[in-house]
Amino acid sequence: MTHHDVIILGAGGAGLFCAGIAAQRGRRVAVLDHAPEPGRKIVISGGGRCNFTNVGASWDRYVSANPKFARSALGRYAAQDFVALVERHGIAWHEKTLGQLFCDGSARQIVAMLLAEADGAEIALGQPIRDVGHADGMFTVVHGERTLTAPSLVIATGGPSIPKLGATGFAYDLAKRFGLKLVEPRPALVPLTLPPDDALFRELSGVATEVVASAGKAKFREAALFTHRGLSGPAILQASSYWRHREPVTIDFVPDRSSGWLTELKRARPRIGLRSALGSALPDRLAEALAAKLDCPGELGNQRDATLTRIEQRLAGWQFHPNGTEGFAKAEVTVGGVATDGLNQKTMAAKHLPGLHVIGEAVDVTGWLGGYNFQWAWSSGWAAGQAV
Ligand code: FDA
Repeated sequence: MTHHDVIILGAGGAGLFCAGIAAQRGRRVAVLDHAPEPGRKIVISGGGRCNFTNVGASWDRYVSANPKFARSALGRYAAQDFVALVERHGIAWHEKTLGQLFCDGSARQIVAMLLAEADGAEIALGQPIRDVGHADGMFTVVHGERTLTAPSLVIATGGPSIPKLGATGFAYDLAKRFGLKLVEPRPALVPLTLPPDDALFRELSGVATEVVASAGKAKFREAALFTHRGLSGPAILQASSYWRHREPVTIDFVPDRSSGWLTELKRARPRIGLRSALGSALPDRLAEALAAKLDCPGELGNQRDATLTRIEQRLAGWQFHPNGTEGFAKAEVTVGGVATDGLNQKTMAAKHLPGLHVIGEAVDVTGWLGGYNFQWAWSSGWAAGQAV
C-alpha cells in the first residue's frame, strides 16, 4: 500500500497537466493508466503536429448543458498561458487558420513537455484499474497488483471516443458510482452518414467545397467533404457536435453569392445554363450533381425569375437528413459526460464530495474543432491541480 496526496486516473492531456501543476505545488502525485504509453491522443492529434490550443478559446465555443461552467477555468488558465509554457520549453509553433496553434515539429514534443513538467509525479502505466473505493475521507485505488491511497482523486480518463486508442466510459461509471449525474454522451466532431435516398451524393465521394453548415442554431463556415457514407470535413464535424437524431443539417453551398445572383446572371448572360452557372461557384462534379437535382433545363434566359430565386434558396439552404454518425470509433471527441451542475467550476471538485475531481473530456464540456479540446484539458487540469 502506497500513500499519496492525490491519485490521478488517466495519463492523457488533462491528467498529465494536472499532475505537473499539483507536483509543482509539492503534492505527492500518482498518475495511473491502463495504456502502455502516456498521451496517446496527443501523439496522433493534429496530423501528428498537435493543435494544442486556439487563440479564441472562450466559453462560448464549447458545447455543454451549461457552457458558462467552463468560463472560470478557461479564464484562469488561458490559451496564452499554455503558449508561454510551450515557448519556455523551446517548442516552435505556428498559427494555421481560425486561431489554431500547431507544433512546427512533432506532437511528441507536447507529451515530452507534459512529462517534464510532471517530473515529481509517479506515472504508472500498462495496468488495469481494478477497483476504486472511498471511506473515511480516503480514496483507495487498486492498479494492477498495487494498492494506492490518497485523500484526493482526479478522474481524467476522458470519454469513449476512439476505443482502439484505449478510450473507455470508465469516467462515467466511476462518476455515477460516486453520485454524480451524466449528460447523455454522444459522438461529436464526427462524420455524418446519409440514408440511401441521398445516394446521388455518394457519387461525389472525395469532393470538397467551402460551405456554411448549420445544425440547430450553430453555423460553421469551413470545408465540407462528401464521403462514400455521407458527409465529413471540418464544417460537418463542427455541426455534428450540435446535431440531434431526426434533425436536418443545412448546407449553404454558395456562401459567397448574395441573394439575386442567379437572376443577375440571367440578365448578364441569358444563354448560360444552370450547370455552367453553378460551375463558376462550385467544383465541377458537385455543380453537375446539383444541377441535375434542381430540374432547370435549358438557358437561364428562359427561366422565370421566381424559378431562379427558388433555386438560389435551395442552394443556400440544402437540407440533408443524416441517419446517424460514424460513431465513437471515428469521433474525435464525446459531447456530454459528467454533468457540470455537480461540480465546482473553480476546482472541478464534486460539490458533495470535495476530494473527488473530474477534468478533461470526461466532463460535459466539449470544444469546437481546432485546439479547443486540448485547451479545456489544460484549463480544467490546471484548476484541479491548484486545488488538490
Ligand atoms: P484522453 O482521452 O486524452 O486521456 C484519457 C486517458 O485515460 C488515456 O490515457 C486512457 O488510456 C486512459 N483511460 C481511459 N480509460 C481508462 C481505464 N478504464 N483505466 C485506466 N485508464 C483509462 N483536440 C484538440 O484540441 N486538438 C487536436 O488537434 C485534436 N486532435 C485529435 C485527434 C484525434 C484523432 C482525436 C481522437 C482527438 C483529438 N482531439 C484534439 C481531442 C483531444 O485529443 C481530447 O479532447 C483530449 O485528448 C482529452 O484529454 P483527456 O486527458 O481528457 O482524455
